[in-house]
Amino acid sequence: MTTSSEASPPRTLADLVTPALVVDVPALDRNIATMARFFAEGPCRLRPHVKAHKTPAIAKRQLAAGSCVGLTCATVAEAEAVASLTDDILIANEVIGEPKWARVAALARRLRLTTAVDSRRGVEGLAAAAQAAGARIGVLVDLDVGQGRCGVRPGEQALSLARLIGELPVLELRGVMGYEGHVQPVRERGAREASARESMKALVDTAGLLRGAGLACPIVSAGGTGTYDISGRVPGVTEIQAGSYALMDTDYGEVGVPFVPAFFVLGTVVSRPALDRIVLDCGHKSATKDHGHPVVEGVAGARVTAFNDEHAAVTVPPECPIAIGDRVRLRPSHTDPTVNLHDVFYAVEGDRVVDVWPIVARGYPEHRQGSL
Ligand SMILES: Cc1ncc(COP(=O)(O)O)c(C=O)c1O
Repeated sequence: MTTSSEASPPRTLADLVTPALVVDVPALDRNIATMARFFAEGPCRLRPHVKAHKTPAIAKRQLAAGSCVGLTCATVAEAEAVASLTDDILIANEVIGEPKWARVAALARRLRLTTAVDSRRGVEGLAAAAQAAGARIGVLVDLDVGQGRCGVRPGEQALSLARLIGELPVLELRGVMGYEGHVQPVRERGAREASARESMKALVDTAGLLRGAGLACPIVSAGGTGTYDISGRVPGVTEIQAGSYALMDTDYGEVGVPFVPAFFVLGTVVSRPALDRIVLDCGHKSATKDHGHPVVEGVAGARVTAFNDEHAAVTVPPECPIAIGDRVRLRPSHTDPTVNLHDVFYAVEGDRVVDVWPIVARGYPEHRQGSL
């Protein structure tokens, strides 16, 4: 008798248990190469954001393609998951709380670790953890360049936080960052350019203010998939933190960037209750719809009309020959939270499954590991 653990791994898409998250390796590599080519001429470099895929196997390919100064992460757990792949990681986010500060300090002992701060509390917590661990932690002052999320105000407020960092020998002020997240989805190119330039002006001007005050500011970090070729050509911006370009969701597909869809959720038709409706075994537990319903690929005239926990209702033309048991591909509208629902990517070339890539930093790995 064969148990499931002894069964041979899936060889083709048809062998996969659904719902399954699938990455199209040639498309992924094409996206990675396109982005690496753009940054090859410099002076601005790429620091791919891990948050989109949370997968060391993909980060490895991004680094191997070149033009990278290191990796960007959103969380300490992401940084830990890719720490063996690079000696330069930016946590482009505020890290707060003793256990996380201690983990940042531990990482800083292994590699060049930089993290964003926007508060005195954040600076002092990092400094105490660095002191206790005998580490030196790199810091970027995080500016709100228009997104209205984290970040101090550009100008004097940023300078005052930078001065505080500069007074603490266990921290190393490495510059400023400002993520123009509000600009990324702007569809119209002219409007996107104008808005990104305005954000980058605030960022670069603040970098100048710090330097004028005698403070170090070698890093000016910004950007995403929607603005990489705008912010990445603004003089003074040194690196771009784009992430979504590797996998591409349908929302970014509307923005007009030169990257192709490289992942999908594979589902199975479990019911055809009416001639004009099929139901798939994919729902909120396999794809998010915060940026809209997933798009059905390869079935003419098919459209997701309702989404439940375990079901997607799809309207199809009555003459559509699709049957119960058939496989259907759904293109998600938002990469990061969809990937976060899955344990692994099935890596395919055509229909052939060539590898299985663990999504190591999905969820909250520290809870799986039992740490506090
Ligand atoms: C701080 C920061 N930088 C960069 C990115 C990457 O942007 P994108 O996924 O648009 O490439 C994000 C995404 O949310 C982000 O939060």
